[in-house]
Amino acid sequence: MVLMIALILADPDKDFDREIRWALKDNKDISVRAFATKLNQIEALVKEHAPCVLLIGPGWKEKPIADLAKDIREKTNTTIILSVNGSKPCNQKKAISADKPAIDFLTFPTQTDELISAIQRAYEILRETPASTGDKGKILTIFSTKGGVGKTVIATNLAVSLARDHGTSVVLLDLDLQFGDVGVMLKLNPEHTIYDAACVGENLDIEVLNGFLTSHDSGVRALLAPLQPELADLVSSKSVQQILNALRKSFDYIVVDTPPSFNDHVLTVLDETNQICLVATMDIPTLKNIKLCLQTLKLLGCPQEITKLIINRADDRIGLNLAEVEKALGIRVSACIPTDKKVPLSVSRGVPVVLDSPQAPFSKSLNRLKELFRSLNKMSDKRAPKKRPIRREAIA
Ligand SMILES: Nc1ncnc2c1ncn2[C@@H]1O[C@H](COP(=O)(O)OP(=O)(O)O)[C@@H](O)[C@H]1O
Ligand SMILES: [Mg+2]
Repeated sequence: MVLMIALILADPDKDFDREIRWALKDNKDISVRAFATKLNQIEALVKEHAPCVLLIGPGWKEKPIADLAKDIREKTNTTIILSVNGSKPCNQKKAISADKPAIDFLTFPTQTDELISAIQRAYEILRETPASTGDKGKILTIFSTKGGVGKTVIATNLAVSLARDHGTSVVLLDLDLQFGDVGVMLKLNPEHTIYDAACVGENLDIEVLNGFLTSHDSGVRALLAPLQPELADLVSSKSVQQILNALRKSFDYIVVDTPPSFNDHVLTVLDETNQICLVATMDIPTLKNIKLCLQTLKLLGCPQEITKLIINRADDRIGLNLAEVEKALGIRVSACIPTDKKVPLSVSRGVPVVLDSPQAPFSKSLNRLKELFRSLNKMSDKRAPKKRPIRREAIA
């Protein structure tokens, strides 16, 4: 497999982009992914494409670009090459402390071979340095032991809603491996799926995995379920574990859509998840199922504080009210999502409601749900992480 070096360019002058692309036109290992002409575009582009090499042109004011370079280096898995204008004396080197090995300098204009070797050097640093942010990504698992309650609708819209916030990188992982429909709901035509990632084996890292993600216009990247259900069995829990490890290093949020059962893949994710969005509807069979699901989560050793009960289609009440539901289940309802006719319409069109109809009641409640998870994650950041291996034997 050829490893592509993802390169992001940044300079106020469009000629910089033209010159670099021209210089790299015959190089098959380096792929220019994006070009930023404004300072406030750079961080979001880097986050979207990380791990990547960022080549900053010589056209910026020194202080703001040096501050941004330091900030990006601290927050993302990126190496940075700062181009220094050869015809002007320059203090950029001084502006960035020397103890940042992931920042390199290139005198501009430059020869093609110097440019390529600087990019390759930067890429080597990227491969050798563990992600500066460590396991920064938060895993949000959308789960229910019942099918048809709205897990996939919520997972896709929540991922898109998170990605619309400036500078937030989001990956959506479809773990409903046999019948996953994240791809359909986002109208994506994947070239690769989780099956390709699972075939890589031990060497799976984020650079390789990046090639298997499918991009949605909203900025969400998705690792989709295999196109044939029989391939699902070939994806091992170990692969799922490796995938999660890799994604956590590069994305702020990993939203996981799941099948309606406690299978091995789901247990692997539950072991790592930061929050569980447990989806129920207000009918007796679902609530009976959710009660069993909550008992199973307890047996597995999942802390109750990470489980948030979300009632979808909350207005379709069938003789029950929320207080009765909370009492019967022994858990508070964290959020309610209304039935909205825009949802089935958006599912058929393959456009998430939060994009298509941002003012629809469903979209508003999804944005509130997003805020809830953001604030829960901020709170849990302040607490020491707990080690809580899932007790698989509890349901064996
Ligand atoms: N809040 C809602 N309002 C209207 N229809 C909904 C709502 N949530 C889900 N649906 C409908 O229910 C169907 C099943 O949802 P889906 O997300 O596929 O369920 P699951 O993933 O739990 O099997 C969707 O196709 C959608 O049309
Ligand atoms: Mg589903």
